[in-house]
Amino acid sequence: MADMKSFYITTPIYYVNDVPHIGHAYTTVAADVLARYKRLKGYDVFFLTGTDEHGQKVEKAAKSAGVGPEEFVDSIVPRFRALCEALNSSNDDFIRTTETRHKRAATALWNSISKSGDIYLGEYEDWYCTPCENFLTEGQLVNMKCPDCGREVERLKEQSYFFALSKYGEKLKAYIEANPGFVAPKTKKNEILSFIDEGLRDLSVSRTTFTWGVPVPGDEKHIMYVWIEALTNYLTATGFPDETYLKYWGGVESGHEVVHIIGKDILRFHSVFWPAFLMSAGLPLPTRVFAHGWWTVNGAKMSKSTGNVVDPFAVIEEYGVDQFRYFMLREVRFGLDGDFSIPALVRRINSELANDLGNLLSRTVSMIEKYTDGVIPACGQGREEFEGPVDALFSNLGAEVEECMEKLDFYEALVKIWERVREVNGYVEKSAPWKLAKEGDAALPTVLYKLADTLRVIGLSIYPFMPGSATGIWTQLGIKSDIEESLFDSEIALGSIDISGLKVDKGAPLFPRVDEPSIDVEPA
Ligand code: MSP
Repeated sequence: MADMKSFYITTPIYYVNDVPHIGHAYTTVAADVLARYKRLKGYDVFFLTGTDEHGQKVEKAAKSAGVGPEEFVDSIVPRFRALCEALNSSNDDFIRTTETRHKRAATALWNSISKSGDIYLGEYEDWYCTPCENFLTEGQLVNMKCPDCGREVERLKEQSYFFALSKYGEKLKAYIEANPGFVAPKTKKNEILSFIDEGLRDLSVSRTTFTWGVPVPGDEKHIMYVWIEALTNYLTATGFPDETYLKYWGGVESGHEVVHIIGKDILRFHSVFWPAFLMSAGLPLPTRVFAHGWWTVNGAKMSKSTGNVVDPFAVIEEYGVDQFRYFMLREVRFGLDGDFSIPALVRRINSELANDLGNLLSRTVSMIEKYTDGVIPACGQGREEFEGPVDALFSNLGAEVEECMEKLDFYEALVKIWERVREVNGYVEKSAPWKLAKEGDAALPTVLYKLADTLRVIGLSIYPFMPGSATGIWTQLGIKSDIEESLFDSEIALGSIDISGLKVDKGAPLFPRVDEPSIDVEPA
């Protein structure tokens, strides 16, 4: 498929100074949903995630653990890989910044930037926030603490290479204006434009007071600033500096998309520094940077010292991976902040998953077993009053979901899908198949077929969000083909595939109801 468009989607690479929490899980889930959706849309998808292992923050964490940095990162990375598995993430690659391929790419990018004359030697004398790995001026500090994380900052005075960021303000603005979807959501775009308008200062891009990182080519006592090195991971995974990188990194004009999903705290790095580095190196730019919000837990900021850090493994084990994925994307619109709590999760599981969707499936399959010997009957002529409204509502589903997914509005996509789930539940009540069966009414096969078909379509539309459950729906309907291999456009309409004659296969409830919250997340 030579003309297949590519879609390159990334998560940030996660710092390995500590084990993963639900904030990390969130970005991975969102990226996975988009990757799976784009595959259904026929794109050649490349989905990347990984770990950010260099820098002072990780070096310090290793020191306090009493081990060397290599040993330390090697002990934490498996936890992040395991999280991908636990989340059922379909990432095509997992990059570690300690890999040789990455050091090679970071060195190559540095050399290109340096060749363009944008790197010069100077002295950095100002503040540094190690938890954020961020250089700060005194004016930016709040009560002499980091304005972003509120933690202690340290005074630095060291020789440093600088990147001539100040040269790029106008060019960056032009790119952002010309590509209105580049920084999203819109409020974030305005925030970035005003940040640029305040004037960009040249950026310190090397450090000499620690060693855990990639050396600056030609001056090895300098270690590359962890952000310039880490951002390069997105290029590394494409094969950069080998020419093959262009397959996924073609720039806006190529029609190939490159989407970075990140948290709002790291937007400047991705929408100002990163494109400026790329411009300087003469490389194409990503097509979209989407900043999502932050999760609090029971109303409070998640922090180790408060002891309210939610372990995604525990939640998944207790409540199920699809339940967790659904909750994270349905509870709050992507781009806004949200609050995580077990009671809220349980509410959504019981009402939207167990009651609305799970029941619909189990009723449908049971009725097919009971009334038509477990075989999906052939569909007769639909009746205007009964099947008409269902057909009408489903006729827009594909277009509505597509519109939402293009905007990364996962929340709205789920709302739209659940409108249909509720409509079909209403249709069951209204058409009362049990009555039709009793009365030997000829409409019965049509109703049963319609129910099975709506579930097939609902299964396909929820697949990106809840791949396991979507597969479960198809299996119970007796559909043998692999849902991952489906094509959204040709299969999302009711009636697009003939499923009559399939033997249903009633399995365990898709979403068992859950009772008391039993996992330990302390209220604030
Ligand atoms: N290593 C850098 C990213 C480099 S990308 C070239 C980093 N790592 S991180 O582990 O600190 O954060 C990774 C992601 O997790 C960020 O997108 C961040 O926004 C997200 N989250 C961390 N805590 C979060 C919440 N409480 N809620 C939602 N997302 C959060 O930054």
